[in-house]
Amino acid sequence: MSDLILEFRDVSKHFGGVTALDHVDFTLRRGEVHSIVGENGAGKSTLIKIISGVHTDYEGEMFFEGEPVRFHSPADAKHRGIGTVYQELSVAPHLSVAENLFMGDLPVNRFKLVDWKHINRKAREYLLELGLDVDVRRPLGLFPIGVQQMVEVARVLFSGARIIIMDEPTSALSPPEAERLFQFIANLKARGATIIYISHFLEESLAVSDRITVMKNGRRVGTYASQEVDKAFLIRQMIGEESGTLFAAYVSAEEHCCAQAGEVVFEVKGLNKGRDFRDISFEVRAGEIVGLYGFMGAGKTALANTLFGHEKPDGGEIRLEGKPLHLKNTESARRQGMAYVPNNRRLSIFPGKEVYKNVTVTYLDQILGQVLRKKIEVAVARQVIQRTGVQPPDPFKEIQHLSGGNQQKAILAKWLVKAPVFLILNEPTRGMDVGAKEEVMQIVRELRDQGMAILLISSEPEIILANSDRILVMSQGRLTHTMENRGQTKESLMQWA
Ligand SMILES: Nc1ncnc2c1ncn2[C@@H]1O[C@H](COP(=O)(O)OP(=O)(O)OP(=O)(O)O)[C@@H](O)[C@H]1O
Ligand SMILES: [Mg+2]
Repeated sequence: MSDLILEFRDVSKHFGGVTALDHVDFTLRRGEVHSIVGENGAGKSTLIKIISGVHTDYEGEMFFEGEPVRFHSPADAKHRGIGTVYQELSVAPHLSVAENLFMGDLPVNRFKLVDWKHINRKAREYLLELGLDVDVRRPLGLFPIGVQQMVEVARVLFSGARIIIMDEPTSALSPPEAERLFQFIANLKARGATIIYISHFLEESLAVSDRITVMKNGRRVGTYASQEVDKAFLIRQMIGEESGTLFAAYVSAEEHCCAQAGEVVFEVKGLNKGRDFRDISFEVRAGEIVGLYGFMGAGKTALANTLFGHEKPDGGEIRLEGKPLHLKNTESARRQGMAYVPNNRRLSIFPGKEVYKNVTVTYLDQILGQVLRKKIEVAVARQVIQRTGVQPPDPFKEIQHLSGGNQQKAILAKWLVKAPVFLILNEPTRGMDVGAKEEVMQIVRELRDQGMAILLISSEPEIILANSDRILVMSQGRLTHTMENRGQTKESLMQWA
């Protein structure tokens, strides 16, 4: 038996004029954890979508267990033992842990009845073996995201997968949850699973994998044993030797504290809502970025939704430019000069529509009156997507065909068309490579310098530290600490989270 479980020979994939994979050779060893790294748009997701049967139309050959194969659909790949865990989880939150684990495949007893005792015992044994000790009868939705994710991975393994693919699994996890996931991956590996792991966090990739493949512009730059390389080396392979400034962005985020803040623009006093958050008070001034840091599940998103009028608070006060704000809905928030970039990208794009439509949609009526003229829309869009560095800068491309990071830049571009007074950004750099993060945050800092008041919500301490003037830390629905961003470290943030 060969030690290769999967192999690409000279695989290329084109989307119209775009070459997403360019003559790629790639090998996957049986039982290894193999990371794929590279900048946004490098071709990582395209590569795994060929393995998982999403893209069936490509050049070159794929070998699985030594045999040439061509999967015809995701179901086909799944049937052959390829399991994929996407970033957006597909668990059923109100079904129990055990039901999720056996989803669609509940064992029955000799009376054709579902045998719950048996199922629960099996599920528990199985998860314990993988190092997860939970009450399998409870609804999965009651557990932290990290546990939900592990159950999803366990289900994929349980359904017979021999290769498990994870595309950016940790961008939603807190550091302790990510730790648990790594231990979990080690256990999967010990049971003989082969794992492909995609992440923009290079330290993670180095820690979790045996080998790392670097992609750039659709090409495979190289594949290295993790023990023989370090972060700086990987970055150089990812971005090329020539880009000195970009390299600086990767290695050290400079501090950006503390701008000259102006008048108070946005003010919250004693805000609370059910079990989501309690007693929240803070203010954001013109020309100031206030960072809101906390782990996944701290209540940041519930707070943001309430501030923007998605939901009503139970009590407390919100003021915008000194006036009490009683938002009926998000439309009224927008009309009063507020803007919100939500953390779930799928909520903020219109798939199937071109980039320019996505970019101009919010302020269409305001910039053009009732007469919409495509020419103006496109010209406006072209300008703002150039500013945010969307690649490719093509206003006519359908937005869902951009790579993840570039979709996020397009979403930000939308808010440059007509600047709001108060901007809420929820995990604005999620899924972006470090270079793209720096480019986007530079735009955010420019908006701040032009006088915008900005609330920057993130569970990445680096992003908070490198961009905020002041920092709020949220934990279990409360603000536990407020500080100026002078001399703060990752540790000083995390101790309050
Ligand atoms: N369905 C599609 N239609 C058109 N172009 C596509 C499609 N999918 C990907 N591309 C293009 O192929 C290239 C590679 O994209 P891919 O999604 O593989 O990048 P990635 O490395 O996963 O990036 P990210 O880190 O942002 O997720 C990009 O230029 C992207 O715009
Ligand atoms: Mg991707």
